[in-house]
Amino acid sequence: MAQERLRIVGGARLHGEVRVCGAKNSVLKLMAASLLAEGKTTISNVPDIADVAIMAELLTRLGCTIVRGHESVTIDVPAVLGHRADYDLVRKMRASINVLGPLVARMGEAEVALPGGDAIGSRGLDFHINGLEALGATAHNEHGYVVASAPNGLTGADIELDFPSVGATENILTAAVLAKGTTTIDNAAREPDLVDLGNFLISMGAKIEGLGTTKLTIHGVPTMHPTVHATIPDRIVTGTWAFAAAMTCGDITIMGGRAEDLELPLEKLASAGAIVTSVDGGIRVRMDGRPQSIDIATLPYPGFPTDLQPMVISLNAIAEGDAIVTENVFEGRFMFVNELIRLGAQITVDGHHASIRGVEQLSGAPVAATDIRAGAGLVLAGLVSEGTTIVEDSFHIDRGYPNFAEELASLGANITRESVE
Ligand code: UD1
Repeated sequence: MAQERLRIVGGARLHGEVRVCGAKNSVLKLMAASLLAEGKTTISNVPDIADVAIMAELLTRLGCTIVRGHESVTIDVPAVLGHRADYDLVRKMRASINVLGPLVARMGEAEVALPGGDAIGSRGLDFHINGLEALGATAHNEHGYVVASAPNGLTGADIELDFPSVGATENILTAAVLAKGTTTIDNAAREPDLVDLGNFLISMGAKIEGLGTTKLTIHGVPTMHPTVHATIPDRIVTGTWAFAAAMTCGDITIMGGRAEDLELPLEKLASAGAIVTSVDGGIRVRMDGRPQSIDIATLPYPGFPTDLQPMVISLNAIAEGDAIVTENVFEGRFMFVNELIRLGAQITVDGHHASIRGVEQLSGAPVAATDIRAGAGLVLAGLVSEGTTIVEDSFHIDRGYPNFAEELASLGANITRESVE
């Protein structure tokens, strides 16, 4: 089968304007949550990425009819849904497990394949399962599937998460909206994507308090109705463009980017020397010289997002000075560092710390993307490497960034797609 890779010749300063797409980590959850109400739900500002197509396929197999429009998706949800999400789709995209909560809440049963490990760590499902059990479902692992059942419906409960897991908060929230009585979730995640999901659910008739805080209160309702909703802009894509500007001594205006969702990353970029300004409808990031190194530690929102950690390491690889990057969210997220080392980066990893000594210039080489964000981080490194960098397995990047290579080219990068057998 033909696969794609990216060929980058480094050295260009990126300048111009880009428009940020809708958030991948929001839209996939909105699509899954549409299962909660019979009828046609329409979501706009939908990014043209591979993961949206995977979620559409999953919902189709559950019995929905999907119509894709220009940056929109309409999901016609039947009265009776299937209840099984197969391994062939779930293994391609972990967000498939977001159908678990809605299916148990609406159909009283769900069988969702365990996503397994991936290139950024082991990522358990225990918080999801414990949460559903607290709401009165039975749940166990059987032949590689989570099998959950609540034939008599769910009942509200007080739940405290050991860690503010985004996925677990979402699955519990999308189950609790149809439970009898009141549910509280303490130590809930408060990522902007989760707030978007909460607002989407409220527009479907759910009763939720505390969005954007660590405690959610959900008063269950008997039924919900379809809705029309626009996905929020993607803060990780916004952040990726901001780092691209800072690393390439560029000047990029990121239209649609919301500075309020990226306070810490933008502050860190400013301390690296970037000039970050708000412009009408977006953010402008420019850089005049070599960046200064920046120390960061990833944490749940509003901490530094783990999804921008590869971009920070790439920036530090060519920055002036030494930096420490601490990964607190995903244990396996430094795997791509070995690829950066192939470009001449000076990095050592010790547990969840990476120490980076900036070099003046990286040197182009073949590297491989291991996941979406690592792939984007490697592309940024390729843009500032002398000579040619090939990024293999670029399909990972297409899962999260619509037309990434084309948009980079429009900003002046020397980057092309190549097919490989
Ligand atoms: C989501 C995002 C991902 C982002 C991450 C953290 C999507 C599709 N993905 O992933 O891009 O990097 O949030 O912001 O939205 N954990 C457990 N048990 C559980 C659940 C989680 O131990 O039941 C652990 C995980 O292994 C990980 C940590 O909690 O170490 C955070 O995971 P979580 O917040 O759930 O991330 P995801 O929702 O999978």
